[in-house]
Amino acid sequence: MKKLQLRIITSIFAGLFLGLFVFTSCEGPEGPAGKDGLNGTDGTPGLNGDVTCLVCHNADLKNQITVQFARSQHASGAIAVEYAGGRAACAQCHSHDGFVEWTLNGEVASDIADPKAWECSTCHDLHNTFDSTDYAFRVEGAVAMLDGSGATVDEGNNNLCINCHQARTGRASFDKDPTTYTRTFSGADYEVYKNTTAIGPNGSVTVDEVNMTVEVVFDVPTGYSYISSTHAGPHHGPQGNIWAGIGGTVAGVPYASHSGGCVGCHMGPESNHSFMPLAENCDACHGSKETEMDEIAERIQLVGEALEGIHAVHFSEEDGLFHPVYASLSTEHFDAWFNFMYLLEDRSHGAHNPTYYKAMLTQCETALGI
Ligand code: HEC
Ligand code: HEC
Ligand code: HEC
Ligand code: HEC
Ligand code: HEC
Ligand code: HEC
Repeated sequence: MKKLQLRIITSIFAGLFLGLFVFTSCEGPEGPAGKDGLNGTDGTPGLNGDVTCLVCHNADLKNQITVQFARSQHASGAIAVEYAGGRAACAQCHSHDGFVEWTLNGEVASDIADPKAWECSTCHDLHNTFDSTDYAFRVEGAVAMLDGSGATVDEGNNNLCINCHQARTGRASFDKDPTTYTRTFSGADYEVYKNTTAIGPNGSVTVDEVNMTVEVVFDVPTGYSYISSTHAGPHHGPQGNIWAGIGGTVAGVPYASHSGGCVGCHMGPESNHSFMPLAENCDACHGSKETEMDEIAERIQLVGEALEGIHAVHFSEEDGLFHPVYASLSTEHFDAWFNFMYLLEDRSHGAHNPTYYKAMLTQCETALGI
């Protein structure tokens, strides 16, 4: 099947080169309209199929893309090789092999022994239509979001990115029947939990100063939610949700102005396959928005500090980041924590959806009395 396809394609190329030769070498009077062709050329002058192929398939562009891609974090793939790329639960987003298996079978059935980082064929595969919008993507349809919201996002070439760059946990998954959780903390956690007050209305903290351990009973009645691990939250990379204005606890507007999407900002002419959101890519629409983004970054920092004040996060001197801590929080405080984790993991300082960022920050600030 594949061989047959290649043979057909080879003959298309042969035909096209012949066509190019005829078109460029003798500029005689216009001939009669040609027969309908496989590549959409129906013989009408101006619809010359070879030019379309060369827009994407030329040596200069291929060299540029190869160099750019080598600089992308997708190509270095530290996490793919060392950590998550082989694990069945993570591989669909974290390695070439996992993504390919997931696009073919809808799941990654078991761990992968020797996972590879991304390559051209992670995202690209075979052509479908050979027209000017056919980038030969491996997958391009609408994306059913994994955050439990039931939302679907269908936005052209951005779909490819959103398959992986999306949240995996929704706010609702933290709402459980009333219960209590008892945990004992020691080591570095001793200092973190010794004075915690995020224990719910009837929770308790018992400190053993001799053995340097803390036993905490987290009470989680109706109207409270529980931060159930130090990795809790929407997970890394919820950029697709934020751009589409979904996932936080307040209503959002999709992409709020940034309809060019992932591809417009991360694959503009200068950055292209490095996927870097260079300032040059913003120039098409407006000047620098650094002041606005700095203001947003400042607001996120203040919310983080307020959340540390109520024992919902812990600031680590080691990596300079806020991390979740186990806690029972009132709905309003929990929502603030959840929205904060979204903005922290999104990492765009507002660029992905300025309006949604501001709405989520306002919820945080109101709940925390900032
Ligand atoms: C739905 C796709 C998806 C799944 C499934 C997924 N991840 Fe990720 N993960 C991502 C994306 C996208 C990023 C990069 C986000 C970014 O750079 O902002 C990421 C980043 C990470 C990072 C790096 C965080 C950092 O700050 O550099 C770690 C660690 C990680 N994931 C672990 C895991 C583990 C472990 C699993 C499986 C239990 C998993 N991921 C499953 C999409 C996914
Ligand atoms: C992470 C996914 C991804 C990977 C990996 C990737 N591409 Fe692409 N590629 C895209 C997207 C998305 C577009 C469409 C960009 C747009 O809409 O402007 C694209 C467009 C292209 C184009 C069309 C010309 C252009 O500049 O728009 C070529 C050619 C191409 N890719 C080649 C490659 C090659 C060669 C590699 C490996 C070195 C590669 N791609 C790796 C996502 C990817
Ligand atoms: C919109 C950009 C674009 C156009 C136009 C385009 N291609 Fe491609 N093509 C790609 C990308 C991207 C890939 C995958 C990455 C790579 O190999 O550079 C690819 C891969 C291929 C492949 C290998 C995969 C396969 O489908 O078998 C062939 C052959 C090919 N193109 C032929 C053509 C021909 C013939 C035309 C014109 C009729 C054409 N392409 C037009 C972007 C394009
Ligand atoms: C197969 C899943 C997958 C696809 C498809 C994908 N990404 Fe990624 N992307 C990831 C993961 C996972 C990481 C983190 C890689 C690592 O650090 O090992 C990442 C890293 C990145 C980074 C760098 C993050 C950093 O910390 O510097 C950017 C930017 C990015 N992706 C943008 C995009 C864009 C734009 C697209 C679509 C054109 C896209 N990605 C498509 C999974 C994916
Ligand atoms: C309006 C332009 C814009 C759009 C649209 C956009 N991005 Fe971004 N993105 C940025 C900027 C700017 C940053 C932050 C860079 C910084 O300050 O480090 C960023 C950060 C990121 C990061 C973290 C990279 C890092 O180095 O920290 C990832 C991953 C990412 N974007 C992926 C995406 C994906 C996937 C989409 C589409 C769902 C998208 N972006 C849409 C501009 C954009
Ligand atoms: C396709 C057009 C387009 C592109 C490309 C684009 N933007 Fe925007 N952006 C807009 C529009 C329209 C607005 C709303 C009007 C305004 O504030 O200028 C906006 C607003 C913003 C805002 C909110 C400003 C505020 O008042 O709070 C930020 C931040 C922003 N853009 C960042 C970026 C960054 C960073 C890039 C490039 C990486 C970028 N944008 C690329 C169209 C675009």
